[in-house]
Amino acid sequence: MEMYKSRIFKNEEVLSPDYLPDILPHREQQIKQLADNLSPASKGRKPINTFVFGSPGIGKTATAKSVFREFEDYSGIKTIYMNCWDYNTPTAVLSKIVSEFGMFVQRRGWAKDEIISRLTEALDKSKKALIICLDEVDQLVRHGQKVLYDLLQMKQYVNNPIGLVFISNDPHVFSDLEPRIISRLGLDEIEFKSYNLGEMKDILKERVDYGLNSVEEGVVSLSSVHALNKGGDVRVGLECLLKAGRLAEQENSDRVKVEHVKRVMKTVDEVKPDIIKEKIDDLEKIILDMVNNKNKTTFDDLYKEYASSAQDPLTKRMFREYVNHLDDLNLIKIGKRKVDKSRQIFKV
Ligand SMILES: Nc1ncnc2c1ncn2[C@@H]1O[C@H](COP(=O)(O)OP(=O)(O)OP(=O)(O)O)[C@@H](O)[C@H]1O
Ligand SMILES: [Mg+2]
Repeated sequence: MEMYKSRIFKNEEVLSPDYLPDILPHREQQIKQLADNLSPASKGRKPINTFVFGSPGIGKTATAKSVFREFEDYSGIKTIYMNCWDYNTPTAVLSKIVSEFGMFVQRRGWAKDEIISRLTEALDKSKKALIICLDEVDQLVRHGQKVLYDLLQMKQYVNNPIGLVFISNDPHVFSDLEPRIISRLGLDEIEFKSYNLGEMKDILKERVDYGLNSVEEGVVSLSSVHALNKGGDVRVGLECLLKAGRLAEQENSDRVKVEHVKRVMKTVDEVKPDIIKEKIDDLEKIILDMVNNKNKTTFDDLYKEYASSAQDPLTKRMFREYVNHLDDLNLIKIGKRKVDKSRQIFKV
C-alpha cells in the first residue's frame, strides 16, 4: 500500500506544541545557564537549584526538557520531569520519584514517610545523581508546599547529589514560602524574556523548514506578528501555521499562502487560558460556568447557587479556596471587599 503523502506537510508533528525541537533558537544562553547549574551533579557534586520564570509560551518547558534530554543521554544523571498540574500533592510527587526508580507504589497505600524511606533506600542503592523538574510549580505550592521541605529533608539523608528546577509564570510564586525554606533552596533565577518579532520569526521559520514543504513569502512573518499580538506565545504562531497548512491542503493548494494564514488567524487566540481551562477540576469548571453565565455576581450568591444544586456541598470556607484558585489563574476576577462583606466576582 502506498503511503499517503501530503503536498503541504513534510512532518505535521513538528508544528505541534508538544514537539521538542533539536535546537531552540534564541534560548542558547538560558540553556547554558541551566546546564551549568545542574552539571556539577554529573561529577558527584552539588547542583545549583534553579527557578525559571517568564510569560506563557516562550520556551521555559522546552528549555528544561532539552537540558534534561542532554543529561539523560550523556551524563548518567537521572532526570525526572513533572508538571505539577498532574502531581500536585507531596505524596503524588514523591510517589512519582519512587516509581521512576522502578518501584511500584500504590498511590493511596503508603504514608508519606514510608515513601520517603523507600526513596532514600533506592537512591542509596543506585548512587545516581538525581535532578527533578517541577514545572508549573504554582499548582504544587497551592496544594502543599510541604513537599519542598520533604525534598530538602531527603537531601540530608542521602549522598546522591540532588538538584531541583522550578518553573512558573509567576516570578513571586515562592514569596509566601517560609524564608528559611527559601534560603535552604538557594535558588539561582533565570528570567525568560519575551521574544521580539525577529526572534519569533527565526523560531517559526525553523519549525516551518522541518514541518512544511513549501510556504509563500510572508507566511512566517504574518504568523509571527499574530503571535506577538496575542501575548508572544509561540504556540499561537504554531497554531496559525498548522491551521493554515490544513486549509491549504483542503483546497488542494500547492503551498501555504499568506491568504490561508489571514483566513485562519481570526480563529487563533491566546492559548494558555484554554490550556488551563482543560486542567481545572470539575468543581472549578462548574464555578467558572456560573460566573461566565452571569458576567458579575457576588461570592455569597455564587455559594448559594452552588449549595442549592450540590448533593453534598462543601463548606463556604472550602468553596472559597476553589474560587480563589480561579482568581489566581486569572479565569475570573474577585473584586475588592465591599461594605456588605460579600465580594463581587467578575467574568474576565
Ligand atoms: N526558542 C524556541 N525555539 C523553538 N521552539 C520554541 C522556542 N521557544 C518556544 N518554542 C516552542 O513553543 C511552544 C511553547 O514553548 P514552552 O512549552 O516551552 O513554553 P513555556 O514557556 O513553558 O510556556 P508555559 O508558561 O505556558 O508553560 C513549544 O512548542 C516550544 O517548542
Ligand atoms: Mg511550560
